[in-house]
Parts: sequence; C-alpha cells; structure tokens
Amino acid sequence: MKVAFIGLGVMGYPMAGHLAKSGHQVCVYNRNQAKAEQWQAEYAGTIASTPALAVIDCDIAFCCVGNDDDVRQVALGKDGIFSGLPKSSIFIDHTTASAELARELAEIADEQDKFFLDAPVSGGQAGAENGVLTVMVGGDEAIFAKAQPVMAAFARFSQLMGPVGSGQLAKMVNQICFVNTVQGLAEGLNFAQKAGLDTDKLLDTIGKGAAGSWQMDNRGKTMCAREFDFGFAVDWVRKDLAIAFEEAAKLGADLTVTKQLDGYYQEIQENGGNRWDTSSLISRFEK
Ligand SMILES: NC(=O)c1ccc[n+]([C@@H]2O[C@H](COP(=O)([O-])OP(=O)(O)OC[C@H]3O[C@@H](n4cnc5c(N)ncnc54)[C@H](OP(=O)(O)O)[C@@H]3O)[C@@H](O)[C@H]2O)c1
Repeated sequence: MKVAFIGLGVMGYPMAGHLAKSGHQVCVYNRNQAKAEQWQAEYAGTIASTPALAVIDCDIAFCCVGNDDDVRQVALGKDGIFSGLPKSSIFIDHTTASAELARELAEIADEQDKFFLDAPVSGGQAGAENGVLTVMVGGDEAIFAKAQPVMAAFARFSQLMGPVGSGQLAKMVNQICFVNTVQGLAEGLNFAQKAGLDTDKLLDTIGKGAAGSWQMDNRGKTMCAREFDFGFAVDWVRKDLAIAFEEAAKLGADLTVTKQLDGYYQEIQENGGNRWDTSSLISRFEK
C-alpha cells in the first residue's frame, strides 16, 4: 500500500520504520525536517515538506503527534492532511487525544468522502521499536478491517472498540488503570526498601503472583534504582489524564484517586521531572 506517516517522534519514527520494512511505500513528514532526513537515511521511503504533500496519493495516512492542538495543526488548513488526502483514503490518528477531536475529524472526513479512525496506542517506546504495540480503535468496522493488516506492521494486537471516539475512550481507561498500578508499585517498593528486603528476589517472586504486572516486570528494577531518564514522560501522562478528567466530568465518573496521582505528577514536574518516566512516582518518597 501507499502510506504516509506524519510525526516521527519517539513513537512515530519506529512505527513508520516498521511500515517501510513490511514493504509498504512510505512517505513521511516531520515538522523538524532533520528527523525526516534521518528516518530516510535509515529506511526505504520518501519525505515531504508538508503533511498535505506527504498524503497526496496515499491509501492510508497515519499520524502520531502530541495533543489535540497538534493534531489540528497537522490535519487542518491548506497544508494539512485533509487538504492532500485523496477521496476514499483513510486517516488513522495514533495520537492520544480527546474523543471529541476524533468525532470532529470523523465528521470532516465524512463530508469529504474520506475515512477516519481514532487509534491511540499502548506499549511505549519499546513497544513501538519492537513492533508490538496494542491499538485501541474507534470507527467503522469495514474501514478497520482494511486498516488492521497494515497496522499489524507495528502492532501485536488491535481491537475495534466501537464507533469513532471509542479508541480514545479505551485509552483513557488504560491511563487511569496504569497510573494507579504505578503508585501501588511505588508504595510497595518503597516499603520493601525500608524493610531491607532484597528487591531483585522480591520482584522475581511476587511478579509471578497476583500482584504481577507489566509495570512490575518492566519498571520494578529501575524504580528501585531511581532511574527515570527514559520511557513515557510525566508531561505526557498529565496531558492524558487531563483528557480523561474532562471526559469523566461529562460522564459523571469518579476519578478521586487518579486526581490525587495527577497532583503527585504535578509535584514531579515542579521538581524538574517533566521528561522523566512515569515510574518516577517513587521519587516522591525521598522528600
Ligand atoms: N512515548 C510513549 O511511550 C507513548 C506511549 C503511548 C502513546 N504515546 C502518545 O503518542 C503521541 C506521540 O508521543 P511521542 O512520545 O512520540 O512524542 P514525541 O517524541 O514528543 O514526538 C512528537 C512528534 O509530533 C510532532 N509534533 C508535535 N506537535 C506538532 C505540531 N504542532 N505540528 C507538527 N508536528 C508536531 C513532533 O515533531 P518535531 O520533531 O518537529 O517536534 C514529533 O515528531 C502522544 O500523543 C503520546 O501521548 C506515547
């Protein structure tokens, strides 16, 4: 297929790379063009100077930028994805954004005889690099069926959750569950270190039981060593939680504890940890 990828960040760069390695014809766009040139030196593909030019003859346009405003900037306007995307082509947004934006973009797509899927991902930088992301998708079933085999280049699992916006709603649930898991792990490991337990043995043991989790397997050791200079940034999780709080207010869903954790992440930002991995919640016990 002819595909385009807009946004070559921590996630987009390897995702676009997997598409190229799977044999698709890929054209990429990145705001900072040096990164697009670096991508082109590493993978087979072309680069474009605007999102509109990148998607001009593609079957599927992928996008993975920062937040709602960033998606609007790359999607709308005369240089945006919609102005270049051919009729009947599919725009898949992998950015973690609001369900409201997804519905807005789907409406624009519909007016132009194009298709839109909201498709936020989970699995982090390692998941993107290893091509094993999980994708939560909102949109039309027939369009998802066309997109799924292409997304398989970078995803181990993708699931249509329901109508447009449902992918973003599922991602909100993912973020709510994951920050609560991280805080539980932070409290447990801080307790373990104060108790003088061998944390390597501990993680190896309780990781096999009912308290085991992805966070425990992948972040337990680095949390004990207070290493946070990698992974999924605190700035991003606060952006994601803000989206979830807005939706929760509309739904009347109680997020009391998650709001407390958001306050903890704010403290970490105030101490300079904006780009630290979200497992840095354990650093709060040092104060
Ligand atoms: N990192 C993770 O572990 C992870 C996991 C799951 C989901 N996500 C989500 O995936 C998305 C991307 O995350 P990331 O870690 O890849 O972020 P990132 O490394 O900061 O990359 C962001 C990308 O978007 C581009 N961009 C941002 N704003 C733009 C704008 N207004 N116009 C044009 N391009 C713009 C950036 O271009 P420049 O290079 O020019 O700045 C860059 O290519 C976010 O929504 C994030 O929440 C991230």
